[in-house]
Amino acid sequence: MASTQTWDPQTYARNARFVSELAGAVVELLAPQAGERILDLGCGDGVLTATLAALGCEMVGVDASAAQVGAARALGLDAREMGGERLDFDAEFDAVFSNAALHWMKHDPDAVIAGVRRALRPGGRFVAEMGGYGCVAKIKAALLAALARRGIDGEALDPWYFPTVEDYCARLRASGFRVESAALIARPTQLPGDISDWLATFAQCFTAALVSEQRPAFIAEVQAALKPQLCDAQQRWWADYVRLRFRAIKAG
Ligand code: BEZ
Repeated sequence: MASTQTWDPQTYARNARFVSELAGAVVELLAPQAGERILDLGCGDGVLTATLAALGCEMVGVDASAAQVGAARALGLDAREMGGERLDFDAEFDAVFSNAALHWMKHDPDAVIAGVRRALRPGGRFVAEMGGYGCVAKIKAALLAALARRGIDGEALDPWYFPTVEDYCARLRASGFRVESAALIARPTQLPGDISDWLATFAQCFTAALVSEQRPAFIAEVQAALKPQLCDAQQRWWADYVRLRFRAIKAG
């Protein structure tokens, strides 16, 4: 599933720059201090990682996408190709930070959390924002309905993990974290373009079920279904994002 999602740094910069631009609240929750060594888990093209480095933090970024790691390195960052379920660090970070990445790590969230814990020094913090329960529910429903009309079970293709507060906090506690705060936040997010650009950037796991000739009609159908729900009178498109934002401390 995850292998059908690819990241092209140029497309990402054009269609998804809002992801790093809207990270102010989670960066505030992180409260980064100059001199701290911080791991950015799922650093993408490194634009946000570089912002933290500019505050004087010693940043290491990891991402599963070689292309995005290349873009992050081009910014002069220490970026490494590493999946979140295979973190290979031992008690070397003051904090692990993650923005808009954990929901792509659906296969084994407990392995991700265990790797984060291992990576932290005693008392270190894990501060993150990810898609939370109900995130892009309208977009997903339109995708699933259009796939169902073609006899395809879209649920089986869904690459996203959007947990409830209770689910994720239970996993954090079971792994040895003390949760300081955790909340679901509805955050309708204005898109830089049309929903079709968002789908091309983020919904490849669904469109990959179709041969390329079928995709334009499929996208047009999903777009038409979503227009009354997500496009306003000024023709601005909004994604129905829900964020899960939390701060947890490595206990014991
Ligand atoms: C995000 O990057 O925040 C996101 C991506 C896909 C679906 C929902 C949210």
